Amino acid sequence: MKIDVKQIDAGATQQRGLPPAVFKSPDVFDQECDAVFRSGWVSLASAQQLPNVGDMLPVKIGDASLLVIRNAEEEIGVFHNICRHKAAPLVDSACSKRVLVCPYHRWAYSLDGSLRAAPKYYGNSDEHMSAEDKQDKGLLPVRSVVWWDTIFVNLSGDAEPFEEFIRPLEQQLEGYDPAGLSLVSSTEYQSAANWKLAVDNFLDGYHVPFVHSQAVTVDSILNQDDLFLSDEIIGLRLPTGASDKPAKTDKPLPHFAHLTEENTGTQQWFGIFPNTLLFVDPVWVQLIIVRPEAPDFATETLTIYAANPDAMADEFAMQRQVLSDTLNEVNRQDIELLDKLQFTRTAPEARHSHLVPAWDQVNVRFHQIWLQKMQRAAG
Ligand SMILES: [Fe+2]
Repeated sequence: MKIDVKQIDAGATQQRGLPPAVFKSPDVFDQECDAVFRSGWVSLASAQQLPNVGDMLPVKIGDASLLVIRNAEEEIGVFHNICRHKAAPLVDSACSKRVLVCPYHRWAYSLDGSLRAAPKYYGNSDEHMSAEDKQDKGLLPVRSVVWWDTIFVNLSGDAEPFEEFIRPLEQQLEGYDPAGLSLVSSTEYQSAANWKLAVDNFLDGYHVPFVHSQAVTVDSILNQDDLFLSDEIIGLRLPTGASDKPAKTDKPLPHFAHLTEENTGTQQWFGIFPNTLLFVDPVWVQLIIVRPEAPDFATETLTIYAANPDAMADEFAMQRQVLSDTLNEVNRQDIELLDKLQFTRTAPEARHSHLVPAWDQVNVRFHQIWLQKMQRAAG
C-alpha cells in the first residue's frame, strides 16, 4: 500500500493517533529508514555490554547493519558491518577478537576498522597488499557517542551535535551522576509489532497499573506529570516515586550518589525520539532500545543498571535479582500485549480510536514528532 504521509492530518492525530496503516506499511517503513533512523540520533546498545577490548556486537536498525567494537584504546567505535570487498556481513553474533576476518574472502580488519590484509590480493603472487591499496578500504565508520552508557549513532552524519540534541534532558537530569551506573542485566527480546507501538506503550502511564498490577497501583500513577523537554525528548514524571515495588525490601539498594532530597522520591521516564526509552528511578535505571528491522518486527534490548556501584556488593545480590526479574516480567507483559496490538491497531477500524486528554498527551506528542519528521522529509 502506497501511503503519502503528507496527506496525514496532524489535527486528527491529536484525537485518534496516527492512522492504522503507518504501523504496518512496508512503504512507510522504507521512508522511516531514511527520514527517522538514518537522519537522527538513534541508540544501538549499552556500552557495558562490551566490557573488554575486542568485544564486538552486531546490531541491525532500520535498513542498516552495524557493528559496535570496543577498540584497543578501550573506546567504543561503530562501523557498518559490511566488508569493503563485496559487502558481505562480517559478524553475526556477539564475540570477542583482536582481528576481524570476513568469512567470505577472509579480508582482515583491525579493531580501528583499518584493512590489515586481503589474501592473494594480486593473484598469483606472494606480494602483500600495499599500504596504498589498503588505505581506502577500511570499514565504513559511523558517527557515534556514548551518553548514560547508551551508544548513540547518527548514520547520515549531519544531525545536530549530540550535546545540543541531549541538552534538555541533561538539564532535567541534573544532580544524577551516570558515572556510577553498574550493569545488572541485559536481555534481548523480539517483538512482532511495529516499533512505534513499543515506544507508544512505554510512554503510556495509563496502562501500567492494569497490565502490570504486580508492580504498580492505580493510586500511585494519578499524579503523573507530562514532560515535553524538546522537539525530540518527552516523558513522564511521578513526583511521589510510587512505583518502587521492585526496590521495596528490608535492605533497599543504595540510590544515586549525591542525589537531592527531591529526586529521592521521583521516578521519571523518557522517550528520546525515536527509539531510546530511559527510566530513571532513585536506585535503578532501565534502558530499552528498540531496533526495528521490518514493519512488524523489532528487537529490543532491556538493560538494567544499579544507580550506585555499591549496589554491586554481594550483600545486594538478592535485591538485584528481584529488580531484574520484576522489570523483565513487566517487559514480557508489554511484548505479549504489543504482539496482539499489532493486529488490532493496524485494522482500519482503529481510526475510530478516542485518545484521552488526561492520559494520552505524551503519546500524541510522539505521533506528532514522527509525523513532522516524515512530512518534512517527504518535501
Ligand atoms: Fe507496560
